[in-house]
Amino acid sequence: MLKVAPSILACDFTKLLEEVKTVENATFLHIDVMDGHFVPNISLGPCVYNNLKGKVNMIFDVHLMISHPEKYYQEFIKSGADYLTLHLEALQDNNTNIIELINAIHQLGCKVGLAIKPNTDVSLLNDYLPYIDLALVMSVEPGFGGQKFMANVLSKVTYLKEQKLDNYYKYLIEIDGGINDMTAKLAKNAGCDVVVAGTYIFNSSNRQLKIKELENL
Ligand code: DX5
Ligand code: ZN
Repeated sequence: MLKVAPSILACDFTKLLEEVKTVENATFLHIDVMDGHFVPNISLGPCVYNNLKGKVNMIFDVHLMISHPEKYYQEFIKSGADYLTLHLEALQDNNTNIIELINAIHQLGCKVGLAIKPNTDVSLLNDYLPYIDLALVMSVEPGFGGQKFMANVLSKVTYLKEQKLDNYYKYLIEIDGGINDMTAKLAKNAGCDVVVAGTYIFNSSNRQLKIKELENL
């Protein structure tokens, strides 16, 4: 079964808890953190979702689109991240020791994801695949919801699936951006385990049904 991660970027933040409750039948809650530097948009910080912790029964999937995840990761874990996903591009720009950072996050009891933008070569993840819990393939340029799905990234999903099967890796494969029923089906067929969906779910008048439909594709 495909797992669904509704993205709160598309919800009405004036009634955040109420909004999240409407999608609580999904497995994950996708939380997009943007710093206006790594991406050209600013969204939210850890204090926003900290208040949701314990009030909804979902796995908190925190997607950090920030230039210095190595400086801030502890705050995001303290605030309730279950999975913390960092962008490979940001870590490489900072010359961060990625394996050490993965270990540090694991020691704090949090799962680790690595994300790649649409133009980043998937093989750059190779050294880290044995250690991560989630690989996030961006199917839009990160920064904004409501963009069009880039189907050319599906080959990265296939590659990650092959690597996983060949090497008995454990990571989930997640895709993020432009997901609807049609693109989710393509992602599932390519090997995705989790689809992130913002606009598609939150713009629907029956969000729970949309989630179920995606799960059962
Ligand atoms: C984009 C974010 C996505 C976004 C997806 O940078 O990472 O999670 O919320 O939104 P939709 O589903 O509308 O493309
Ligand atoms: Zn995201």
